[in-house]
Amino acid sequence: MAHLLLAVVLLAAALAGVCMLMANPTSQLVWGLGCAAVQPGLPQLTAVDLAAGTPTHGHLVKRGPQSSLEALAQGRNILELSYLPEGDWATQRLAGSAPPFPSKWCAAMFNDKYRLIYVKCPKTASTSLVDHFGDCTFDSRDTCLAFVRFDNASEVQHVVSHWQDFFVFGFTRNVLARAVSMYRYLAHFMPACRRVAWDEFCANPFVLGDVCRRAESVNRPCCETSPEHQYVHVLPQAHCFTTANNESAVDWLGRVEHFETDLAALVQLLNSRPGVPQLQLPAQAVKTNLEEQSLCQRPSRRHLVDAATYTLAPGTFNPCDPADYFRGAHAHCYGDVLQHFGEDVSFLYTRQPHP
Ligand SMILES: *[C@@H]1O[C@H](CO)[C@@H](O)[C@H](O)[C@H]1NC(C)=O
Ligand SMILES: *[C@@H]1O[C@H](CO)[C@@H](O)[C@H](O)[C@H]1NC(C)=O
Repeated sequence: MAHLLLAVVLLAAALAGVCMLMANPTSQLVWGLGCAAVQPGLPQLTAVDLAAGTPTHGHLVKRGPQSSLEALAQGRNILELSYLPEGDWATQRLAGSAPPFPSKWCAAMFNDKYRLIYVKCPKTASTSLVDHFGDCTFDSRDTCLAFVRFDNASEVQHVVSHWQDFFVFGFTRNVLARAVSMYRYLAHFMPACRRVAWDEFCANPFVLGDVCRRAESVNRPCCETSPEHQYVHVLPQAHCFTTANNESAVDWLGRVEHFETDLAALVQLLNSRPGVPQLQLPAQAVKTNLEEQSLCQRPSRRHLVDAATYTLAPGTFNPCDPADYFRGAHAHCYGDVLQHFGEDVSFLYTRQPHP
């Protein structure tokens, strides 16, 4: 905790004179965002601290289906909405343009018996969540979650038609910490590609998918995963949680930063619904795939080089300290990340109506 506070203080110092330090009621220091580091036009945050969960969480008033699923249910073409290499958006990117998001793309999973829908946002502890309930692809427990197959029109219709009466939920994550997590995770699949620096990624998170796509297009693939995978992992999390009108598409949101307690609360909520059978789930969730820790405990060769540089030259970039990704030479990443994830800032850092 002490090093985090120090990091926040250092960052604030780096932005000296433009950002104001404030003390919140628990006397933790947070840094105010009404400052010059944030580009004009960005929604105002009250405060972002790399360790803090999103202010929007818990119960929300659900106003309708998640945007891209609703569009698919209305018969929209998947190639117009998705990030598939043969789709319109990826084709335009390959041609060098930077088209807007083609839709609010989001994977979803469901379970009819327990009447629930999980909007599965990348880099928000989804592996741990799915492990807890079971993935119907491999697991025959009756609590298992099945992926909505977007190419199956009747399945899409089925899920959208139950959006109002099923319990719809997801998990959120601190917007800055999630960006660092994405970079570390996605760069892992690209050992044979040119190295994309964090600074390049933070300014344009789609760059990793572009590198994979270009390499594929000249028959020299360098990624261990698809360009689409690299693209959809850097979408705003709010795409999973909102309707076409930017209102809540979920009944409830948990926080990765409070995964165990929020998951326990979720199971209790699910089991308090009248007329729905009780889920028999382990009392304790195991948080797997926590790449933050694992990467720094079992680092890749590239991370070892970064880490060695850091150890040899104290004060240089420490790849295992998320705060380092936003200070010194990387201070621009703060505004860049908040801009790319502007929809997360508006939805998750602004109080949403609760029931
Ligand atoms: C499409 O989804 C429905 C409903 O989930 C299922 O019954 C059907 O078998 C699926 N069709 C295919 C081709 O997978
Ligand atoms: C929803 O939010 C996006 C991104 O901020 C914006 O471009 C769009 O106009 C909004 N749509 C509505 C219906 O408010």
